[in-house]
Amino acid sequence: MKPPMKNLNLFLFLLLVLGLHLGSVLSWKKEEFRNCNQTPFCKRARARKPGFCSLIALDVSISDGDLTAKLVPKTPDNEQDPDQIKPLILALSAYQDGILRLRIDEDPSLGPPKKRFEVPDVIVPEFASKKLWLQRVSTAKIDGDAAPSSIVYLSDGYEAVVRHDPFEVYVREKSNGNRVISLNSHGLFDFEQLRAKREGEDWEERFRTHTDTRPYGPQSISFDVSFYSADFVYGIPEHASSHALKPTRGPGVEDSEPYRLFNLDVFEYIHDSPFGIYGSIPFMISHGKSRGTSGFFWLNAAEMQIDVMATGWADAESEIALPSEKSRIDTLWMSEAGIVDAFFFMGPGPKDVVRQYTSVTGTPAMPQLFATAYHQCRWNYRDEEDVEHVDSKFDELNIPYDVLWLDIEHTDGKRYFTWDRTLFPHPEEMQGKLAAKGRHMVTIVDPHIKRDDSYHVHKEATQKGYYVKDAGGSDYDGWCWPGSSSYPDILSPEIRSWWADMFSIENYVGSTPSLYIWNDMNEPSVFNGPEVTMPRDALHYGGVEHRELHNAYGYYFHMATADGLVKRGDGKDRPFVLSRAIFAGTQRHGAVWTGDNSAEWDHLRVSVPMILTLGITGISFSGADVGGFFGNPEPELLVRWYQLGAYYPFFRAHAHHDTKRREPWLFGERNTELIRDAIHVRYMLLPYFYTLFREANTSGVPVVRPLWMEFPSEEATFSNDEAFMVGNSIIVQGIYTERAKHASVYLPGKESWYDLRTGTAYKGGRTHKLGVSEDSIPAFQRAGTIISRKDRFRRSSTQMVNDPYTLVIALNSSQAAEGELYVDDGKSFEFEHGAYIHRRFVFADGKLTSVNLATTSPGKSRFSSESVVERIVLLGHAPGPKSALNEATNQKVDIELGPLWLQWGRGSSVLTIRKPGVRIGDDWTIKIL
Ligand code: NOJ
Repeated sequence: MKPPMKNLNLFLFLLLVLGLHLGSVLSWKKEEFRNCNQTPFCKRARARKPGFCSLIALDVSISDGDLTAKLVPKTPDNEQDPDQIKPLILALSAYQDGILRLRIDEDPSLGPPKKRFEVPDVIVPEFASKKLWLQRVSTAKIDGDAAPSSIVYLSDGYEAVVRHDPFEVYVREKSNGNRVISLNSHGLFDFEQLRAKREGEDWEERFRTHTDTRPYGPQSISFDVSFYSADFVYGIPEHASSHALKPTRGPGVEDSEPYRLFNLDVFEYIHDSPFGIYGSIPFMISHGKSRGTSGFFWLNAAEMQIDVMATGWADAESEIALPSEKSRIDTLWMSEAGIVDAFFFMGPGPKDVVRQYTSVTGTPAMPQLFATAYHQCRWNYRDEEDVEHVDSKFDELNIPYDVLWLDIEHTDGKRYFTWDRTLFPHPEEMQGKLAAKGRHMVTIVDPHIKRDDSYHVHKEATQKGYYVKDAGGSDYDGWCWPGSSSYPDILSPEIRSWWADMFSIENYVGSTPSLYIWNDMNEPSVFNGPEVTMPRDALHYGGVEHRELHNAYGYYFHMATADGLVKRGDGKDRPFVLSRAIFAGTQRHGAVWTGDNSAEWDHLRVSVPMILTLGITGISFSGADVGGFFGNPEPELLVRWYQLGAYYPFFRAHAHHDTKRREPWLFGERNTELIRDAIHVRYMLLPYFYTLFREANTSGVPVVRPLWMEFPSEEATFSNDEAFMVGNSIIVQGIYTERAKHASVYLPGKESWYDLRTGTAYKGGRTHKLGVSEDSIPAFQRAGTIISRKDRFRRSSTQMVNDPYTLVIALNSSQAAEGELYVDDGKSFEFEHGAYIHRRFVFADGKLTSVNLATTSPGKSRFSSESVVERIVLLGHAPGPKSALNEATNQKVDIELGPLWLQWGRGSSVLTIRKPGVRIGDDWTIKIL
């Protein structure tokens, strides 16, 4: 069988590569991917009617601080399905801060054929210490039920209720009994227990030319989850779709697929689709005007499909009467394998839910400063000369950039950790030249390892038995860029540690400490595999089937690479690793991007909801390929993309190798100027961005936020995903159409907003029809905030470190404002030991005060900065004042009219305190006279 298969593989591979090259003219190959009807577990689950579940809860008690119970069928029918009647074990645990965890699994003492996979390494160790030990359970008959329910008090005014018959779990507010989130209220819970194969039964599943042997048979789990007092649900990335999730089933929905969570390498994905792409985060957030926000997270790495039901779906589908409630949103969650390990987050505010979720899965890593600046990438910068040319052009044209990226062609035949020595004969020298300007390089390292006996990585991995195995137990062999390849079994801690060691300067020959890493294709992508990925029956460490782990494969790879960079730097250098595949917890390991988008206006548009959704599900550091990966953007689209991308948390231009070169200087002087301006905006705002990255690092609250996160009671914001907030102070609205002359921009809240460029004030709480020019996209600073900027332009962010600051004070209707600034060495982990500056600037009663927010204690590291404040700009201040007083030194300084942006001196003048004579890290007060 083997040799012909190889030929077939080769043929398919060539076809695929050809397909890739034609990528810019062909579109998404729908038929290569399964839909729900072609996915038996999904089809089965979707066909069930409300009231299907016949389980009841028995033996409810408290044990080890948890509420435990058994779930058994109400009327066991032994003859029909003897394997499906073994009791399931349920455990409910409460945690501080309004978090409930629900676990349901088979009973190990009843000898199931195999232990089902529980995803390790996602829940942060600190979470265990938040557990509240339940002491007591009470019982009551609720709402006229014949059978009792068990009730436990959680925390923060919430109770968990386990209804015995029919089985249901929900959380309610103790004070008024209002429900927040519930599971199995519609009786759609189903748990396919592992069992012995029956005579004549066929467990194999076929899709196109692939057969999944499914040695353990059906093992899927599904259930309904309802969110109460909800107007919208959000989350469950990654999809190229709207931020507020559209219903996929029920009245008014025509034939939609559920939202699919299955990490896939989808070339040229289409926008506005529930189809699964590179990442999977099974975390959904609901939000409504009347109560606020709640969240539900299912820690499970198998393929998942999620339906969002339209109001009235149950009436349409059920023969039994179900309670219908207008402001409830029902959802159906279906997974191919694993266990139920679910978390309910009670909010009640949007930021509370994000904090609760990231207390389980971790907050985003703090990036190095350089990583928050602009990145220049292309598949591929050809050789050292090309690199040098691009690098020097940025300098010549006064465009800052921080990182130059090398894609797969820099390697010796797609053998990662090697260099094509003809094209890149002096990699260390090349990196050294960039480093001398404070710049960095990123190279790509994918998980597919070329099966070539002379390649040291392959040799070692083979000898040590470190590859994922196929269903027959041999090293799994699939096709990717290098041809025949195998994949490290990165689930194993030993293999992760081996992988991490690859990144040491000695092992990665030609690397230097200023080189960082890009992990691509880690879904994993397998060109000749089913749905372009690894077969589900492939085997991992500990006998785990690939189907159970699939969505977390890339996560482990990202983790091991980031660990490798930490090791390389002796624990002193923050890693930077960009990953395409995503899972819950990815935020701890680095940045992500939204994969292979296209140079189309719709893709520019969808990048915003995609980034917003990633942000609220923990992944703060994300961006889309600026310019669009496939195709050649018109200069206008490219410029608009830079103008928007300058506000993405991760700001990188990238392009497919078949596209025309598109560095910022290739579209005429005017477009170069516009792109330069856009990049300058990002550099000016770096102190603000860096402060937001730190906020995300401590609280989980994303750098870029949907409007509803900042204005949770304003309905007009709930489904607005054309605009977004950068932190709490800036709103940005993209321009998503050609030759736009006007834009309708909704400015939320009661306070005014100041145009970022002109300082012109606009009233909040209404939609403004604004004139738009090619110069910029609409962006405004919220009244009542203070933003820190650095207005001098250097070659890279590292060269701006000692530059002076500009503080922009946007006064609200009470002539007050406040803002924060966080600064550290931008590189090491010393900030974790207290080496940082954290200031709060408060403007009130005509005085600006800088207050220390950093906690200092003896023995802590310290960080100081010589940087001074060179300008303080006052927006919205009554005209008139001529001078200000530095109260500490008793020195008077002038207030004059000056440009809002030094670089673009044109336009209106604003009140400016020049050279107030204060250092950024000190306590001081400046009084307007
Ligand atoms: C696919 C990635 O999505 C893309 O960004 C990259 O350029 C190619 N692989 C080649 O490495």
